Amino acid sequence: MSSASQVPSSHSSEAEALTQKIQELGEWFHNLNLHGVHTAPNHFLGDFPNIKWHRISQRIPLDLSGASVLDIGCNAGFYSIEMKRRGADRVLGIDVDDRYLNQARFAAATLDLDIEFRKGSVYQLENVAGSFDYVIFMGVLYHLRYPLMALDTVVKKVAGKLIFQTMLRGSRESQAWAKDYSFWQEEMFSNPRFPAMYFIEQKYSGDPTNWWIPNCAAAEAMLRSAGLEILSHPEEETWICEPRRVCRYGQYILDLELAGELTPEEGA
Ligand SMILES: C[S@@+](CC[C@H](N)C(=O)[O-])C[C@H]1O[C@@H](n2cnc3c(N)ncnc32)[C@H](O)[C@@H]1O
Repeated sequence: MSSASQVPSSHSSEAEALTQKIQELGEWFHNLNLHGVHTAPNHFLGDFPNIKWHRISQRIPLDLSGASVLDIGCNAGFYSIEMKRRGADRVLGIDVDDRYLNQARFAAATLDLDIEFRKGSVYQLENVAGSFDYVIFMGVLYHLRYPLMALDTVVKKVAGKLIFQTMLRGSRESQAWAKDYSFWQEEMFSNPRFPAMYFIEQKYSGDPTNWWIPNCAAAEAMLRSAGLEILSHPEEETWICEPRRVCRYGQYILDLELAGELTPEEGA
């Protein structure tokens, strides 16, 4: 992560003013290109998140006319901006961090894009009305103390597709596993491909908000367990999914679980 430093060759006063404003808005996590001025040109992950979008974007229609988009944990709005550029009708980005929301609002205004950015948490999506054709839930899961609760909450907002991304650690391979095991079977727990989450008690990468980091199998298992079907895996850490069995007996998994009424699916 770094602050803006790249100034277009023209050195116009507009570019200088833009650079100044970008710096005033604090450190950026998204490297946006604002009329030739980059917001995080020295990002530790490279041209982030362009490097991810390059592959993900190929699985998303070029024309999103009429579509609604909810970007949860939108940060400075990179994905919101790209979805709006594809013609999405309504784009709403939410984040808990005012610094990022201010960056996102500034970026959208600078690019003359009509995107709404609102303060809000993934745990409080009941404050967001309706459901959306595309829900983007990228880079947030591992920052949460209650990841599966968040995923079960997000699912309630997905009318069309979920674009999900998480940091992964451990094995990047997954395989089919048995549906049940005897109490005395333990060997699968030492198999690195068995679904597992790494709990970070203190910090990871200097960040105390990194709580639970799944391996690849756990990320996929959680998506399935939340009632989603995985349609594609366009990029190592990203999956595109559709809701399939998010309700049981007419109620969402989250509501059943919170009421203590979640029972195993027949035939599952
Ligand atoms: C690693 S960044 C990912 C940003 C962006 N979605 C992406 O993939 O590039 C994590 C973002 O999640 C936000 N965030 C953290 N906890 C959140 C919560 N409970 N609800 C909504 N956003 C949250 C952070 O403020 C930050 O902007």
